[in-house]
Amino acid sequence: MNIYIIGTGVMGGAIAKILAKTDGHVFIYNKTYAKAAALRNNSKIIVDKNLEHLHEADFVLLAVKPYQLADLSIKAKLKPSAVLVSIAAGVKISTLKTLFSHKKIIRLMPNLGLAVGQGVAAWKSSGLSAKDKISSQRLLKAICENFEVKDEFQIDAVTAISGGGPAYFFYFAQALQQAAVKLGFDKTRARQLVEKTFSAAAALQGKTDYQFLINRVASKKGTTERALHIFNKDRLSHTVLKAAFAAQKRAQEISNE
Ligand SMILES: NC(=O)c1ccc[n+]([C@@H]2O[C@H](COP(=O)([O-])OP(=O)(O)OC[C@H]3O[C@@H](n4cnc5c(N)ncnc54)[C@H](OP(=O)(O)O)[C@@H]3O)[C@@H](O)[C@H]2O)c1
Repeated sequence: MNIYIIGTGVMGGAIAKILAKTDGHVFIYNKTYAKAAALRNNSKIIVDKNLEHLHEADFVLLAVKPYQLADLSIKAKLKPSAVLVSIAAGVKISTLKTLFSHKKIIRLMPNLGLAVGQGVAAWKSSGLSAKDKISSQRLLKAICENFEVKDEFQIDAVTAISGGGPAYFFYFAQALQQAAVKLGFDKTRARQLVEKTFSAAAALQGKTDYQFLINRVASKKGTTERALHIFNKDRLSHTVLKAAFAAQKRAQEISNE
């Protein structure tokens, strides 16, 4: 199986490293050649120039920014049996079909968690045969934990929750670090407190209900309860909901740009 990745930035680079550990050949191509070449120390990765090997690909993974898709001149080089996998936020299957005059498409929404073997993704396919579906599922499983959505519009919701999710976590971690500085610690010590706390919290969650986990920390009339009271008073969960809807709306807007 030949896999071809176009765009070796944050996501494409991470996916290339994962797929290099599986069977088959991994070809990569990036606008700035040096960026792709930096991944070459993995012997399974073949850095391509000028899309020369694209016609050999069984899977072509598009990992460029949504607005960069239109610049890709790949139409004539795709073999008809190839499956085109796009991870671009907000870009619909119908748009991909038109852009690349191609039938077999998977729209995939992963997240950065895959860079540490902890990714989660959702996908929707179109034009795939039963055989394509089996080989696609094998490929997606190698990339990260994933599931198929019933309707394509759900991909925008996945984008808003898990696609951007790592950034929301980092935002909250940064805010807590800033609070620690205001409470008198230097930035390094503040980072130590937040980093260790959050990696432990992530490990502690297991499959346990979040409210139960909160209750394990926040005792009645205690300090954590006082902090949580402020979150509730300021309607933090409502802000989170508004943010998720805004991200989903932005994904829908991208599909019309
Ligand atoms: N980052 C995330 O957490 C995340 C999560 C889920 C989905 N996504 C989606 O993943 C896609 C990639 O995001 P990213 O964060 O990885 O972006 P990124 O780091 O900017 O990577 C994009 C890469 O595409 C390359 N590129 C641009 N135009 C190209 C062209 N014509 N031919 C070949 N390569 C080209 C860029 O190369 P140059 O640097 O040389 O221009 C860059 O290395 C986006 O569509 C995004 O919506 C991202």
